[in-house]
Amino acid sequence: MVSGVNARFDPSGPLRGRLRVPADKSISHRAALMAAMAAEPVTVSNYLQAADTRSTLEAVRELGAIVEERGEELVIRGCGLRNAQQPAARIDVGNAGTLMRLLPGWLAFQQGGIFKLDGDDSIRRRPIDRIADPLELMGARIEARQGRFPPFTVYGAPLVGIDYRLPVASAQVKSCVLLAGLLTERTTVIEPIPTRDHTERMLLQAGAPLERGGDPQRGYETVVCNTDELELDELEVPGDQSSAAPLIAAGVLVKGSRLVLEGVGANWTRTGFIRILERMGAIVLGELEPPGTFGPLEPVSDLDVSEGPIEGTTVTPEEVPLAIDELPLVALLGCFAEGETVIRGAEELRVKESDRIATAVEGLRGLGADIEALPDGIAVRGTGGLRGGRLDAHGDHRLALLGAVAGLASAEGVEVVGMEAAAVSYPGFADDLAKIAA
Ligand code: S3P
Repeated sequence: MVSGVNARFDPSGPLRGRLRVPADKSISHRAALMAAMAAEPVTVSNYLQAADTRSTLEAVRELGAIVEERGEELVIRGCGLRNAQQPAARIDVGNAGTLMRLLPGWLAFQQGGIFKLDGDDSIRRRPIDRIADPLELMGARIEARQGRFPPFTVYGAPLVGIDYRLPVASAQVKSCVLLAGLLTERTTVIEPIPTRDHTERMLLQAGAPLERGGDPQRGYETVVCNTDELELDELEVPGDQSSAAPLIAAGVLVKGSRLVLEGVGANWTRTGFIRILERMGAIVLGELEPPGTFGPLEPVSDLDVSEGPIEGTTVTPEEVPLAIDELPLVALLGCFAEGETVIRGAEELRVKESDRIATAVEGLRGLGADIEALPDGIAVRGTGGLRGGRLDAHGDHRLALLGAVAGLASAEGVEVVGMEAAAVSYPGFADDLAKIAA
């Protein structure tokens, strides 16, 4: 557990105004990685400047890419698909699970290369067998602590294509296998439940031969095959739906609020939280991409959020991957809703930056919630509000942000223990709040 800076969030008056949320973390990681895999320079605008995505820039530098920061833009001169350099030291992924699970997809086909990866205490508790299994089926070798935890070593090798059915609905695993498939004759990833598709979209944009079949109900089959080079040229990262989410929750809960969040990514594989909120009766307006849409582009929209009454809902297992990082906020909203809110099929929450079923339930209960942990989710009985108190972020950025929003909407305020955890995705959160607090 990380302890450090505590921050108080007092009950707030109406939140009003316009705000641009930080750039998308998932897309920023992918932009840096794919730019490093490209042979020609790639200009990335609106790259997320936060701890997790700085770890990715550091990692690609160590692998031989040149990263130039030019004002608001990054220019990344990559190594080409086959030419990642072997760093002398371990690659430090910090707290970034996405970096840890996507990067090995590229490293696995650097023939003869040996790459050691490690990270902070939280990353050392997060499993990597989920990527080691398919990469080993493809011909790479992975050695990990206790067979499944960082630090771990990737031994690059020539890879063969596989048909891989995801045993867990994870975009990180899907992405890793698709990246590894870029130098195989044909690699297919089958996902029974759709997960975020930023990797597929960016690969299409880079001219990779990628095809996708299936639909949102049956899930997707995505095929990649032999690729000469990735050609990206320019990438612009949209605002992060997951960083917008705490502000959306605050806008819905804090009396009299009306907020506009500008330029937020509207890819339907990331907007599950908004669909859940709409079902709860919340008013969040925007041009959201219809489910099932697919193509190279990442749509953006302004989101117009109004405070209003909400009712409980049941989040089904199919909805879970499309709102995975926002589920603790659904539990928070459930505390204020009429009736019961139940989240099922979300056992993946237990292997995030913290065990988010345990930490969200313990945290919200400490603030007065009538809430219980289920083996695969959370059940909350709405009591119309929260008293307040102290909430420990357990070194988890999503928990820190949840605690902050709980404080704004509570009767007595919340002290968040370890607020600095928010810096991995949303370093300027407190400043942004100050801009919209009346
Ligand atoms: C991410 C995928 C999700 C999510 C994480 C980012 C990604 O993880 O929780 O914050 O960028 O692909 P899983 O794919 O493991 O569910």
